Amino acid sequence: MTVPANGASTTKASEYDPRVVAVTRPEHHFSYLSDDNGDWLATTDGKTLEVQGHVDDAVIWDVREDGFEHATSGLRLRSDATTLDSTTTLRLGNATVAADGSLANGAPPATFRIGHGPERLPSEYLATLNKEGWVSLPCILPPSVVDGLQRVGCVDAYADREPVRQTPLAQDSAVAKATIEPVSLWLTREYMRTRDIRLGHSPGISALTRDDGKREVQGWHNDFPYLWGTGDRIPVPSGDLVLGMQRNTCVSDFTKENGATLFKLGSHTSDTPPPREWGISTDTYRKGHRAESGLPYAGPEADVIEAPAGTIVLYDARTWHRAGMNQTDGKRGAIIQAIIPGFIVPFMDTSGTYKAFLESDAYRQVTARERKEVEKLMIHRIAGPAGLFAIGIDRELTERVREQAAASRSVY
Ligand SMILES: [Fe+2]
Repeated sequence: MTVPANGASTTKASEYDPRVVAVTRPEHHFSYLSDDNGDWLATTDGKTLEVQGHVDDAVIWDVREDGFEHATSGLRLRSDATTLDSTTTLRLGNATVAADGSLANGAPPATFRIGHGPERLPSEYLATLNKEGWVSLPCILPPSVVDGLQRVGCVDAYADREPVRQTPLAQDSAVAKATIEPVSLWLTREYMRTRDIRLGHSPGISALTRDDGKREVQGWHNDFPYLWGTGDRIPVPSGDLVLGMQRNTCVSDFTKENGATLFKLGSHTSDTPPPREWGISTDTYRKGHRAESGLPYAGPEADVIEAPAGTIVLYDARTWHRAGMNQTDGKRGAIIQAIIPGFIVPFMDTSGTYKAFLESDAYRQVTARERKEVEKLMIHRIAGPAGLFAIGIDRELTERVREQAAASRSVY
């Protein structure tokens, strides 16, 4: 980054030269087989079947000419159909599979829905995440969910649509389906080593428009709850204790030109803030900073991840990164989501959004499994000697603390 002598913003195109990491569209996806509740048909021993409420290697199936083959054990099931989103009965040997995965033995056969699965095994993604501190899940969202997200976000084919003033979660079931995407949640739980995870704020879809050459831009930072150098919420390096993950969902294709996020991949292990001379958020958001000092660093030390719509990039929240700038006329949609362990106080209260979701058609359009997961992610709880409680905003006390905060800033 150079600081021009005349004080004008003259960062040259040649200074935007990050290393490009390209995520490609998969040619093949595994399948899920889900019951009426949305739970997944699994085998852990390669012989017997059961249903389970989360996704790991046990629920990963591959289409074969007469049915499905379990991806790790090779167990074969015969089916009436193998088409994505259709329902089918399943047979193991000569017996029909019942709703709980047992063999029906004369009981009415259960039907299972064939779902869009990941490109690779969840365990392979976990190995990458543990080694690198980040992982991409290429096109893991089904095309129908991507379409719903683009509609709500008013991007891509829906660029001319007027945004609706209602929380995205209540607008379309696609937002709930993206929020509870099961591989990213399983990876997050494994990486943070706790089942008890929450959204740090309600899901939102952002649409990045073309940069106008003037507006203040986001600088380098690490994410909630760390915010080292830009908020300093966590007082010391946290080492093996992971206090936050960030999940970027590509609602549109992410490209180097349309503002794909810039990272310093692997920087989470430094347990430090990004260097101030790269241009950190606290400085770059200051009015006039861009005109005086130019843009934050985007040279060859930085990485930009290009990925097709429907891809999720999951990373340790300590990773240095910053938003890219859109140099195209197309709006670029994204869901940027902080996920934290249950013992961290969230960035924003999610209970109001959750209640709006409960009242919406979107709620009625998702499975029991999806409803349960949204609830787990969005209701913050106290579980203690006095019992179990949900935490939300207390209006009366909010007014009181705001009055006190205002008074403490007063010169009197
Ligand atoms: Fe961020």
